[in-house]
Amino acid sequence: MKLLILNGPNLNMLGRRDPDLYGLETLDEIAKKVSLAFPDVDFDWYQSNEEGDLINQIQRAEEKQYTGIIANWGAYTHTSIAIRDALEPVSIPKVEVHLSNIHAREPFREESKTGRVMDGIITGFGSNSYLLGVEAVRLMSKKA
Ligand code: DQA
Repeated sequence: MKLLILNGPNLNMLGRRDPDLYGLETLDEIAKKVSLAFPDVDFDWYQSNEEGDLINQIQRAEEKQYTGIIANWGAYTHTSIAIRDALEPVSIPKVEVHLSNIHAREPFREESKTGRVMDGIITGFGSNSYLLGVEAVRLMSKKA
């Protein structure tokens, strides 16, 4: 199983960015934790602060034969119709993850534009949201 883990803007700042909300782990540390938890899975981690870079990754995911996509779109979650449109035709499992609970924060975070075209959303479990995201794709792939 080969999974693409996409991370949007400002997630490269984890560890330094509002630790009360996002914890103290860096994105690299989270990536290591996830790889250790799932030694049988191949992971490609990608982070970009640019919408277009993320869209290019989405568009290539099926031809690169990923089993599924796990994504934390960061603030693009709430704004990006372009990412939403790129995701819509992708037929492999797609799971959105958030460190914080987007429903327990400012009203502008309440809506996930991207979440409408993902298979589901895991939100509020800190870095464990990524672990749960992998579990979700595994369960979906078994079903298929
Ligand atoms: C986030 C939540 C978003 O609202 C925010 O813009 C982020 C991080 C999270 O993981 O909790 O950048 O996606």
